[in-house]
Amino acid sequence: MAADEQVNVEIPLDKPTSARAYGWLLGGKDNFAVDRELALGTLQILPEIMDIARGNRLFLYRAVRYLVEEAGIEQFIDMGCGLPTNNNVHQVAQRFNPNARVVYVDIDPIVLAHGRALLADNDNTTVITADFRDQQAVLDHPDTKRLIDFSKPVAVLYLSVAQFLRDDQSGGSVRYAIRHIIDEKAVSGSYLAFSHVVLDDPEKNAKLTKKVNDDGIPLQLRSREEVHELLEGLEPVDPGLVDIEEWRPDPNQPPLDPVPEELRPFEGVARMNNVLYEYGGVLRKP
Ligand SMILES: C[S@@+](CC[C@H](N)C(=O)[O-])C[C@H]1O[C@@H](n2cnc3c(N)ncnc32)[C@H](O)[C@@H]1O
Repeated sequence: MAADEQVNVEIPLDKPTSARAYGWLLGGKDNFAVDRELALGTLQILPEIMDIARGNRLFLYRAVRYLVEEAGIEQFIDMGCGLPTNNNVHQVAQRFNPNARVVYVDIDPIVLAHGRALLADNDNTTVITADFRDQQAVLDHPDTKRLIDFSKPVAVLYLSVAQFLRDDQSGGSVRYAIRHIIDEKAVSGSYLAFSHVVLDDPEKNAKLTKKVNDDGIPLQLRSREEVHELLEGLEPVDPGLVDIEEWRPDPNQPPLDPVPEELRPFEGVARMNNVLYEYGGVLRKP
């Protein structure tokens, strides 16, 4: 890996991060008490959050497999990639096409710290520490230039990340962050894979948003209609934009890491409640 050696890895240990809290829900070990407290606090408001997070990670596998096997995509930019777990994008993509290339991008430097070890002997994959609202920083990065050929179709992944962009944050509009590459740089036949947390319960939405924002993590949930607006002009492949549980379900796909002991009581809760879900799909640039 030609990793970003310039990045000064400062990992905040006294504040939670979404990468580490989400990683714990997926069964990961790279988290701290503050992250677990945040996750448990959100689970008190919405016990189904863990199932939704895990369902999102299963969608990632199906979307990447589709993009390689059926859409013929060989190059990926995974925006807000999160901490490595099992079946990361490069592992899924390279299983179906050994030549697939992946640029991982995350704002949290812990992702680079752990990605380095995972990618040490994989020249076709890299991790960049960047805020993807600064699209130019991603595009100008030497590893992006080395691995992504914008004269060929590319897939840009925004999986469960756009809800961490608030409309009132400085640093560029949400639409620019999501659409700049696909609209301005990518050729026709490129793809966007997208999922976004939707919560059809205004009271719980207000509670969850306050809790996460109070913990220092920007959060803004959007409605299905707002997701459609963000993605207008792109062509969703079958079955369209849906609750991602319904996006080409595959009962035989590889399982995630086991649920941590402390979180077992939350397993399966989402089946009893359908106000919270990840909404999204895979869309083609015409
Ligand atoms: C819920 S995780 C999703 C991880 C992965 N995409 C997946 O679907 O499994 C959200 C990730 O987005 C990252 N993130 C949030 N805002 C970001 C930004 N502005 N730029 C880059 N990464 C960001 C967080 O650090 C975190 O790792």
